[in-house]
Amino acid sequence: MSAQATAAAGRRREGGQGPPALSVEGLQSRYGKSLVLAGVDLQVYPGEVSVLLGRNGAGKTTTLRTIAGVHPVSAGRILLEGREVGSLPAHQRVRAGLAMVPSGARAFGSLPVEDNLLLVRGRRAEGRGWRLEGVYDLFPALARLRRSSSGSLSGGERQMLAVARALMANPRVMMLDEPSEGLAPVIVQTMAGLIGRLREAGVAVLLAEQNHHMAMRVADHCYFIEKGRIADQCDVHAAAERDLVRRYLGV
Ligand SMILES: Nc1ncnc2c1ncn2[C@@H]1O[C@H](COP(=O)(O)OP(=O)(O)OP(=O)(O)O)[C@@H](O)[C@H]1O
Ligand SMILES: [Mg+2]
Repeated sequence: MSAQATAAAGRRREGGQGPPALSVEGLQSRYGKSLVLAGVDLQVYPGEVSVLLGRNGAGKTTTLRTIAGVHPVSAGRILLEGREVGSLPAHQRVRAGLAMVPSGARAFGSLPVEDNLLLVRGRRAEGRGWRLEGVYDLFPALARLRRSSSGSLSGGERQMLAVARALMANPRVMMLDEPSEGLAPVIVQTMAGLIGRLREAGVAVLLAEQNHHMAMRVADHCYFIEKGRIADQCDVHAAAERDLVRRYLGV
């Protein structure tokens, strides 16, 4: 990490945010024999949006999948609210407060929207966190569609349902892989607004994005990933000043 990036990370930790909700240390991960993540370090704090930016094939999706437990860890640690979760199966990580919304088209079958939301139990039983009303408050469009077949939703509505369903498990950390992919600009705006509201609600958000316009608009902190390593990190204003998007994404 560069001296500037280290200084930025230091300022962030001194910012009175308390401990990170998610801390990843030296994370390595393989596809077969090839080392795809070669030691990823990152922290995501409650009420903060961090974005993982990098070129095609840099390792963004693999980072999220490895943290979520749908791809195995080869080495390193994954701490959720200080607790090591790297050896837990994916569903136990969800129960512990770690949610991921994968990229791409989502198939929800033909169940009504509301049934899809109610299928998720998570920590609601403890009486805190997101309930149906809270989720509908965040997603008025889904409230209107509550009785509609999930199969009839548009791409943007399906993306909202995916985020809403992840929220029903009351996550402390929400990871979103390319949430703006394939969405019309007006829906991307809606998604950006939603991410802002997750932050206000104290969720620690980690986005993987190709859409740097959207990412830089919603992010507080940026991680730049290159060949499976974090090459640089800093707050979003410093990233703009230092022209890091051009340096790491070539755009
Ligand atoms: N199922 C797989 N089998 C083998 N190699 C894979 C597999 N999935 C990804 N890889 C390789 O792992 C590396 C990282 O891929 P990853 O999907 O994490 O990148 P990414 O940053 O999400 O890229 P993109 O911007 O295209 O989504 C790439 O070199 C890719 O070719
Ligand atoms: Mg990807």
